Amino acid sequence: MSKFYITTAIDYPSGKPHLGHAYEKVAADVVARWHRLRGEDVFFLTGTDEHGQKIERYARKAGKSPREFVDEMAGNFQELCRKLNISNDDFIRTTEERHIEVCREIFQKVYDKGEIYKGKYEGLYCVDCESFYLPRDLKGKKCPVHDKEVEKVEEESYFFKMSKYAGKVLEHIEKNETFIQPLRRRNEIVNRIKEGVKDLCVSRSTFRWGIPLPVDEEHVIFVWFDALVNYISALGYPQGERFRKYWPADIHLIGKDILWFHSFIWPAILLAADIELPRSIFVHGFINVGGEKLSKSRGVTVDPAKIIAAYGADALRFFLLREVTFGEDGNFSEEALKRRINSDLANDLGNLVSRTLTMVEKYCGGIVPEPSGEEDLKEVALSLPLKVAAALEELEFGAALEAIWELVRRANRYIEEQAPWNLAKDDSQKGHLETVLYNLLESLRFISLLISPFLPESAGKIWEQLGIEESLSTQGLDAVKEWGKLKAGRKIRKTALLFPRV
Ligand code: ME8
Repeated sequence: MSKFYITTAIDYPSGKPHLGHAYEKVAADVVARWHRLRGEDVFFLTGTDEHGQKIERYARKAGKSPREFVDEMAGNFQELCRKLNISNDDFIRTTEERHIEVCREIFQKVYDKGEIYKGKYEGLYCVDCESFYLPRDLKGKKCPVHDKEVEKVEEESYFFKMSKYAGKVLEHIEKNETFIQPLRRRNEIVNRIKEGVKDLCVSRSTFRWGIPLPVDEEHVIFVWFDALVNYISALGYPQGERFRKYWPADIHLIGKDILWFHSFIWPAILLAADIELPRSIFVHGFINVGGEKLSKSRGVTVDPAKIIAAYGADALRFFLLREVTFGEDGNFSEEALKRRINSDLANDLGNLVSRTLTMVEKYCGGIVPEPSGEEDLKEVALSLPLKVAAALEELEFGAALEAIWELVRRANRYIEEQAPWNLAKDDSQKGHLETVLYNLLESLRFISLLISPFLPESAGKIWEQLGIEESLSTQGLDAVKEWGKLKAGRKIRKTALLFPRV
């Protein structure tokens, strides 16, 4: 059985999770669920990034110790995963002992190889990014991501000889076309490396909230060095069974603002520590709200938990994946969400399910009928698994959903064309009527299996209503290799409307 390891970024629990956090988790969850459907042995990791100056400051503002603060906040992120039906296999917190140990071990290993030296850091720092900036990268005096003034930092620090690895990382990126995706992101990084790379400051000594250096307890490990290691500490590097089984990661899924850390700094650390590089880094865009960047201070925020409470997790999942082109920035508004719910979910899918089941109850006594003729929707249905696979290979979620919706819409038109309510009036059409209804039910079987990575809750409900004995969670893509697997003679179980209009 082939393995598949996917990770999200680990979030700063400096505040409550926002819509961007929800988006990344949902995208990764779809990929993880899809690979499970393909029968792969999947490991899906997410978590929280809990050290550093930013967290320390937010804790102070909240009048709490950093430890109290992160314990409370991390709970919100775990809760969001639960509410969104995220199927992560583990949740790593960088304040856990299992992480701290590995982080110190990697630091020591790189230090012992002579790749870390002591020096003095003088420069500019954005605490919100937890990142150093060169004057040329700033917008005036401000950080380009947070639009906040950077701070002058001057302290004794340890440095990682990162510049030494520029050639090797560049070579790796150039040799491996799919290492950074989408492609234009790759070009961005190639150009940036070619502009020249400096050594990386990997310790801080002006605050205490971090992992002490194994070689100098007066310093804490720079929070990005600490955070990136989560991808292997969660696997129990170096001896753990999980590490041997799942590393290298197949996909690190991240947002565009942290590409440099993943595509250059992380590979350089791994090379220095003699660890294999991840297979690919997929970069998504940002979710804006009402056309504006998310910003707590300007009040541009959306609480995903509130959206889920009002519309359900599946509606939010669907909206984010259908509306946002992967790799590009996308926009959220409650109006647009309602439009999607009413059109694609209520009108298209919800209607198809309720009309089909109502007719099966009315004309077939609620029993799956035996088909006896044309397999009208078969061709479209059988073409779907390949189309969805091709789209998901590139993480083009919208295209995958669009392919599935071809069948949803086709089946709705089929109802209009065949007008089962007329066939029911004519006894000589009984066989044909039953075949039409069977074709619709069988299409719903295809649809529910294929939407299950995207809309796990609704997919399960459709599946159950079809009266299939085996649970959807035990199924793989084999179930949609052939047309006609839905068994006749079983009782359907019509329940409440799937997607009421809002
Ligand atoms: O960067 N839309 O944490 P974070 C979409 N701890 N994605 C967004 C977003 C938005 N508006 N805002 C942020 C960190 N993200 C580090 C990561 S990984 C070893 C350490 C994405 O909480 C962002 O790009 O600021 C990142 O991938 C993730 O959310 C966590 O962001």
